[in-house]
Amino acid sequence: MKSILKSAASLLPPAVRRAASGAVLDLASLPERLRDPDRRDEPWQTLHNVGGGDFAAAGRHNLDLLTRYAGLTPSSRVLDIGCGAGRMAAPLVYVLGANGGYVGFDVSRAAIRACRQRLGRARPDFRFVHADVRNREYRASGAVAETAFVFPTADGEIDIAMATSVFSHMRLDSIAHYLREAARSLKPGGRFLFTAFALTEERVARIEAGRSPMRFKPWKDGAWVVDPRSPERAIAHPLSALKAATAAAGLDLPNGVAFGCWLPPSAYSGGQDLFIAVKPPAGSRP
Ligand SMILES: C[S@@+](CC[C@H](N)C(=O)[O-])C[C@H]1O[C@@H](n2cnc3c(N)ncnc32)[C@H](O)[C@@H]1O
Repeated sequence: MKSILKSAASLLPPAVRRAASGAVLDLASLPERLRDPDRRDEPWQTLHNVGGGDFAAAGRHNLDLLTRYAGLTPSSRVLDIGCGAGRMAAPLVYVLGANGGYVGFDVSRAAIRACRQRLGRARPDFRFVHADVRNREYRASGAVAETAFVFPTADGEIDIAMATSVFSHMRLDSIAHYLREAARSLKPGGRFLFTAFALTEERVARIEAGRSPMRFKPWKDGAWVVDPRSPERAIAHPLSALKAATAAAGLDLPNGVAFGCWLPPSAYSGGQDLFIAVKPPAGSRP
């Protein structure tokens, strides 16, 4: 029965499928959200676009990563790429001081509206920008190609950029462009924390052996996707290609990559694979 429902759902257009699966997740998590006072004001799944799970807890988890690995302080200027409904912005409201800064952008108008409504009053200085960019899964009607989008940032104004669970919905040429835009936006020495699904030969063998809860299938150029009809639903790219795109953008990966729990064994507690890229300090390269 479950598999029949899944096959039927995969025939729906992405926006309808996302709304339907969001509604199901919302209903399933309702009792828990009503029981737990911390979870009562969560934006509904259909709005927040961030997959299942505890919205606030996921935000705290990512905040901890930013503090530990990206050197977040109250005076940091933060760029949140694909900010969704503010899972990261919500805890940053209490962390960033008046001399810090936050700009988040997303292709989802509903998500940006939710951020402005929920967080704008507490932090009128936070900027939430709607990006009219085309992504087949999240905004098929977007006017601008991902590969042509210019981030709403000045050169070198950002201390910390992040893209959590965004590159897992983008093709490689788009990721390469976003990495270049992030590098442009960062100050020398700034950091870019991003997550993705990364493949090595050994990991592909584990997927083929059925050890991944995510049903990835081979697609093209070494990428694997969950749904070939809508590749942006979830895309895994070769680790070598992600590393090459990071290097081509002028960013270093001094600590490599921490593999996440989507494909055990994992090196940290997050779902997707974690990359902490660094823009080299001025004068550090010949
Ligand atoms: C799984 S959600 C993650 C949201 C948020 N980063 C978080 O961790 O809570 C993916 C988000 O990426 C956004 N998105 C997809 N493609 C994008 C693009 N090309 N540029 C900016 N945002 C994008 C979607 O609208 C969605 O809000």
